[in-house]
Amino acid sequence: MTRLAIIGTGYVGLTTGACFAHLGHEVVCADIDERKVERLQRGEIPIVEHRLDELVAEGLRKGNLSFVVGAAEAVKDCEIAFLCVPTPQGEDGSADLSYVETAAREIASLLPYEAIVVNKSTVPVGSTKVVERVLKRPDVRVVSNPEFLREGSAVDDFLRPDRVVVGCDDRSAAIAVGNLYDKVRAQIIVTDPASAETIKYAANAFLATKLSFINAIAAVCEGVGADVNDVVVGMGYDKRIGSEFLRPGPGWGGSCFPKDSRALLKIANEAGYRFDLLAGVITVNDEQFDRVTDKIRVAAGGSLEGKTVAVWGLTFKARTDDLRDSPSISIINRLLAAGATVQAFDPTVDAPKPGVPAGVAVCADAYDATKDADVLTVLTEWDDFRWLDPKVVAANMPGRTVVDGRNLLERAAWNHAGFTHLGIGR
Ligand code: UDX
Repeated sequence: MTRLAIIGTGYVGLTTGACFAHLGHEVVCADIDERKVERLQRGEIPIVEHRLDELVAEGLRKGNLSFVVGAAEAVKDCEIAFLCVPTPQGEDGSADLSYVETAAREIASLLPYEAIVVNKSTVPVGSTKVVERVLKRPDVRVVSNPEFLREGSAVDDFLRPDRVVVGCDDRSAAIAVGNLYDKVRAQIIVTDPASAETIKYAANAFLATKLSFINAIAAVCEGVGADVNDVVVGMGYDKRIGSEFLRPGPGWGGSCFPKDSRALLKIANEAGYRFDLLAGVITVNDEQFDRVTDKIRVAAGGSLEGKTVAVWGLTFKARTDDLRDSPSISIINRLLAAGATVQAFDPTVDAPKPGVPAGVAVCADAYDATKDADVLTVLTEWDDFRWLDPKVVAANMPGRTVVDGRNLLERAAWNHAGFTHLGIGR
């Protein structure tokens, strides 16, 4: 059992805190948002994240997970402090380190002797050294321990990781952080801090590359009359490629890929390498938003002006309520700019809220969103959409095309109800 302080209770901090408590550690989580802390103390989870409520409730019940306002309160008795604060995209594309630096400054004089500070936030390569400089504590070691948590399955990813990366030049600090994970029985990879920081960016950039690649192949499939689903199966059996993370879609988004790929471009540039491949990956993704918008335009009869588009799905992927950099929102913005009216439904969005563009009618029910629509489009892969009745939709809307940006719906059923089903790469 180790005494841990977690600074920041966003997706990463809250998952990290709840999971470490589940693994038996003594965890104090800190946030500057008093209302959020009050809610967490009552076991109320501010985000949609599978199993997180269960683990927080367990920690509160057992008494080894608590929530406090302010980092100072959390670190006073800790052995290891995790920095899990946001690193938003700065104006020039690089990650903004100011929250990390502020948190480090705040805890510097309060950390117990020989405590360890761990950076979990995704930070530019070299940030471990920045934190060391801010702390000015020769007795405190700083470790990079990047997270690889997917929203929607963050708890499972934490408790059953493919690997744990620990970046530190000091062996005993690396062992202390590695030991926190002994119950998860994952491969622990110990590197120098710069390599650990680079692993995080490289992994995300590679995954984004896979997605842009398959979306580009989907475009080729449409041109040559191939079916991308079959192409993925045929490629995936090659062990060197694998079939995971090759689902074509409306483009990739979320809180990590767009920000991290742009930050890596900047890091590479500053290091003297022009990363044209990654720039291409980002361009292909922006073009994917345009391609899906064009499909909807064609389905609407060649112009979106004055047309009504029903959109199923607003979040950047299913099983989260996160709208940050959602492909759905990028496409909706294009539809609105072209003069369309948008009626949207998402299981996690019951009213207009920050992130949903002004002018979008947020509907309480998937069928309501299709009322009088000229085109229906599916932009998030919520499983529930698969089971909706195309006959009810047909009775609701005059249009007879569904643009399925996730290849989610059963084509035969929709054809049977009189719809043309346009997928991605098929
Ligand atoms: C990602 C990384 O997977 C995770 O390791 C990292 O630490 C944080 O960023 P996340 O942003 O939660 O996780 O989402 P992820 O599941 O990776 O999906 C990212 C985007 O790619 C989403 O828009 C998703 O819809 C899209 N995607 C994913 C596809 O279009 N096809 C796929 O096959 C997989």
